[in-house]
Amino acid sequence: MSESVDRNGDGIFEVVALVGSLRKQSFNRGLLRAAQELKPESMRIVEAPLSDIPLYNEDVERDGDPPAVQALKAQLLDSDAILILTPEYNHSIPGVLKNAIDWASRRYGTASVLKGKPVAMMGASAGRFGTTRAQLHLRQIFPYLDMRLMPQPELYLPNAGDAFDDTGALIDDAARESVRALLESLLDWTKQVGST
Ligand code: FNR
Repeated sequence: MSESVDRNGDGIFEVVALVGSLRKQSFNRGLLRAAQELKPESMRIVEAPLSDIPLYNEDVERDGDPPAVQALKAQLLDSDAILILTPEYNHSIPGVLKNAIDWASRRYGTASVLKGKPVAMMGASAGRFGTTRAQLHLRQIFPYLDMRLMPQPELYLPNAGDAFDDTGALIDDAARESVRALLESLLDWTKQVGST
């Protein structure tokens, strides 16, 4: 195992998940539950709560990060990798997710906690395109933040209404296999590119 990953040395890769939807019945949070079920044994995936993150305001930041932002930055700093699970809003990413990225991109100590982090993404949409356009925008944002974006595999889950059952469990076999494969790749990718 590379020394630059598994930051707390317990043999488990800590992945922090950012979900771009605050909705209780969110398909993307359903995708996260599937990821937590289908992940490799040596990986833990924990969601970072975004509902208490205030709208970014440089004046507020100057007085010190609000507690929810401090907690987010600390959680991201301690992670080995980041997993984004997001809907597409108006052919882009939801403001909830962009706002969290904007806060996290700002300095924590000497540098941003996002700098050098391995990151992968997936998304579910009720529509036909499965968040392709939202993920394209993330492909624009992450390299700018000097994050290590896993180029492949891509995971777009269209027609999400058909892929989950009434309890919110992912029941589409092909989608489950894609989730499992992406997380295996994220483990390899994290070992390969490490974490700062
Ligand atoms: C949407 N939705 C949507 N879907 C899509 O495929 N492309 C889009 O551009 C948009 N735009 C959009 C804007 C806004 C403001 C909302 C509220 C919704 C539909 C979206 O994919 C659907 O609501 C998902 O179910 C949202 O994800 P969660 O909440 O289920 O995770």
